[in-house]
Amino acid sequence: MSQRTIVITGASDGIGAAAARKLAARGERLLLIGRSPEKLAAVADPIGAESYAADFEHLDQVRAAAAWVRERTDRIDVLANNAGGVFAEYKITGDGNERTMQVNHYAGFLFTNLLIDILTASKATIVNTSSVGAHAFGNIEMSDLDYTKKYKVMKAYGDSKLANILFAKGLDSRYHDQGLSAVAIHPGNISSNFGKETGNAMMKFIYKTPLARMLSKPESGADNLIWLMDGTPGVTWTSGQYYDEHRKPLKKPNPQQNDAGLADALWAESARRVGLPVAA
Ligand SMILES: NC(=O)c1ccc[n+]([C@@H]2O[C@H](COP(=O)([O-])OP(=O)(O)OC[C@H]3O[C@@H](n4cnc5c(N)ncnc54)[C@H](OP(=O)(O)O)[C@@H]3O)[C@@H](O)[C@H]2O)c1
Repeated sequence: MSQRTIVITGASDGIGAAAARKLAARGERLLLIGRSPEKLAAVADPIGAESYAADFEHLDQVRAAAAWVRERTDRIDVLANNAGGVFAEYKITGDGNERTMQVNHYAGFLFTNLLIDILTASKATIVNTSSVGAHAFGNIEMSDLDYTKKYKVMKAYGDSKLANILFAKGLDSRYHDQGLSAVAIHPGNISSNFGKETGNAMMKFIYKTPLARMLSKPESGADNLIWLMDGTPGVTWTSGQYYDEHRKPLKKPNPQQNDAGLADALWAESARRVGLPVAA
């Protein structure tokens, strides 16, 4: 396989960092985005990857990250929208959005759309790291995306991960006929830095106690992402689909996952929130 240009967000730790190391070992060109400049450099420098630090709690930094990518390449073969987290404290960002939804969904939505001309021209694959949480906790209410009535940590996380799936479907319906493919996956339950900022007792129990030793390694989650990056859309996997950690579509998905009206409403609202014109 000839060298590809691969952009990964959330590359400074966990699954994204493991994927970056594996892909670098094969000689792919990597453009890595992470929040912490120090952690990002510690991943990127030893593998010779280019990197840019941006905190997705600030949409201006997302715009700057997209501009940084643009300055470096006119070809993107793969974009992995992988940055994400679970956040204990309720917060409205300076951009006016609930933080979980902004970091996990609106930021990736903006970043992707700012690069969409390059992505379509490259007939790219876009891989969104979603989660089983989309099905366990997700129930998007378009009338209260900022959780003004009540903030529940895991519902916000589940909604944001459901949004990752709906975004992949929205990209597929808008751009697949131009050669772009988009897909979402649950990477597996992975022992990483994930859950550090959660105040949720169940998440702490799973990720911050000796039980974490039972979880899979970040490399295993990376392998699931790389399976999609290496696959052939329409042959090994289907654009617009969501895959579980066994690389299979769900038999009983959250009904919202396949709600095309919701996908369109979320697309329009996400575009409004990040200041992009709404695509038809
Ligand atoms: N671990 C699991 O069991 C699991 C299960 C299902 C889905 N996932 C998903 O997998 C993805 C990667 O998670 P992980 O397990 O690898 O966790 P991780 O080790 O905590 O890595 C998360 C990555 O996201 C970045 N990030 C977090 N907040 C950010 C922000 N405000 N702005 C920019 N980047 C930010 C982090 O940057 P810094 O390190 O620089 O702060 C880091 O690179 C997430 O989307 C998560 O929802 C994980």
